[in-house]
Amino acid sequence: MTILEAENLGISFGGLRAVDGVSFAVAAGEVFSIIGPNGAGKTTLFNLVTGIYRAGRNGRIRIAGEDVTSLGPHLLVRRGMARTFQNLQIFFRMTALENVMVGCHLSEKTSFLADLFGWPTVARQNRATRERALALMERLGLAQYARAEAGSLPYGVLKRLEIARALATEPKVLLLDEPAAGCNAVETEVLDRLIADIAKSGVAVVLIEHDMKLVMKISDRVLVLTHGRRLAEGAPAVVRNDAGVISAYLGDAGATEANRAHG
Ligand SMILES: Nc1ncnc2c1ncn2[C@@H]1O[C@H](COP(=O)(O)OP(=O)(O)O)[C@@H](O)[C@H]1O
Ligand SMILES: [Mg+2]
Repeated sequence: MTILEAENLGISFGGLRAVDGVSFAVAAGEVFSIIGPNGAGKTTLFNLVTGIYRAGRNGRIRIAGEDVTSLGPHLLVRRGMARTFQNLQIFFRMTALENVMVGCHLSEKTSFLADLFGWPTVARQNRATRERALALMERLGLAQYARAEAGSLPYGVLKRLEIARALATEPKVLLLDEPAAGCNAVETEVLDRLIADIAKSGVAVVLIEHDMKLVMKISDRVLVLTHGRRLAEGAPAVVRNDAGVISAYLGDAGATEANRAHG
């Protein structure tokens, strides 16, 4: 079942067409990766999909068939869209557990008044929230850090903590912007299994990633962007052997090399 449909998305910054008429669709349980050189428009595409930027006049975004084009980020979270950021967006002065609880709260339906007056339902819900957040941290191998101040934790742990907070909103689609950046080989291996596990649970995963080994291993399909446009899309093996993709990454000399290797 198709969960996320992005249709004809585009945006300009001044004279620069950062994303230009890009469309893609991702199904439940699928890992869909977006790759491309620095400045290709990958993060900007995420910002369009997640409502941080408005999709252009002809742009459309649907979640499970429902048009959500004009919704802002906080409403999209309630429709089942969650993301992580290329530059971490963690509350460093809060504990790791509290960071995940924030995610839980985003999908809960306490009223503002109930919160204000501290009604008993709120206390009960807070306990439940805490337990849900802890269970999630356990699943992601983060339980040992629950009480630690987020600011004191290593980078690789924080990358996973951000994923935990995103999962706490119980998303249908999860967008990850370079989750392995700055992670060592062991941390990347852990991420690899984690992402596969998330997809297996039925979430549509959209992944921006520079680590080609990781991308080629875990993606069902790959979209290649250059200069804001789609250069290629397909299974990892197909994209890897695409002459246009090779030349975009390695220059024309690389394409010639590749052709020779195939010839
Ligand atoms: N808010 C912005 N204002 C102006 N230019 C931007 C902004 N965000 C991104 N850009 C430009 O748009 C292009 C795409 O950027 P980005 O989406 O961050 O690329 P990627 O994530 O693929 O590295 C780059 O040329 C970048 O400098
Ligand atoms: Mg980026």
